[in-house]
Amino acid sequence: MIRLEVNLNTGQSLSRREFIAADPDLLGMGERRFAIIGHRAVNDGTLPLNDLAGAGGRMDVLVRAINTALFLSHGIRDDSDITLHLMGGPGPPRRIWFEGSRLEGVHADERAIAGQIAKVLREPTPPVGRLEEVWTGLWHSGGDISTTIAEWRREGVTLVRLDADAPPLWVDGDSSPGSDDMGARFGFFLSDDRSFTTEEIDAMDAVMPVRSLGERWIQGHSAIAVVHHLLDNGLPLDLGERGSSGEPAR
Ligand SMILES: C[S@@+](CC[C@H](N)C(=O)[O-])C[C@H]1O[C@@H](n2cnc3c(N)ncnc32)[C@H](O)[C@@H]1O
Repeated sequence: MIRLEVNLNTGQSLSRREFIAADPDLLGMGERRFAIIGHRAVNDGTLPLNDLAGAGGRMDVLVRAINTALFLSHGIRDDSDITLHLMGGPGPPRRIWFEGSRLEGVHADERAIAGQIAKVLREPTPPVGRLEEVWTGLWHSGGDISTTIAEWRREGVTLVRLDADAPPLWVDGDSSPGSDDMGARFGFFLSDDRSFTTEEIDAMDAVMPVRSLGERWIQGHSAIAVVHHLLDNGLPLDLGERGSSGEPAR
């Protein structure tokens, strides 16, 4: 269990929820990243903007996830990133990373977001290990979910796989004292309309806990909205013993 506690200069100790509530300028305490896997999403060539769900390989699901991960009612979140994993061919797996704190020229309009993805797909996929910024705050690279897991672990991100059939992500009621993680970085993994593959589950479950947002399956972008709600409001998360992340567990 993570106790979110802040000691202000007053000497007062506040829970993260109280700390956030005390300052209306604070939003999104705790950086959050989302990794979404598009199992059939096209990764090269021309993205059919008029058929994102069909010929685009359910790219519509990923576009909605970007929208929820990054956009507030007015403006963009500077504490949130999302990485798409485009696995549907015809090229090698490609990852597109939208960096909320730097992103320019992307708006909360699903067709415009799809248009930005289309521009990236016209570029050749960089090799695994080389991250290229196509324009400000929008990057792409080769690699798949294993690459993202390895990169985020090296950066000390606390990783979580989201799955309805798992223990709950949050703790109801108050929590016992624990570490102060105001600077925590969380990385949440979710799938598109399909289930994760066995290989994906094996790669994730070897190194991160699995947590639920409720018993009913909801759409991926709704899952992202629930995560934002929990973190924005400083609700304590229960990530068990494997939630500390950092360097690879053996
Ligand atoms: C539309 S759901 C995928 C449904 C798919 N049929 C399956 O069985 O995985 C998209 C993603 O949202 C996340 N998700 C949906 N409902 C959830 C829940 N209740 N708790 C945690 N994650 C959830 C999961 O990561 C899931 O892979």
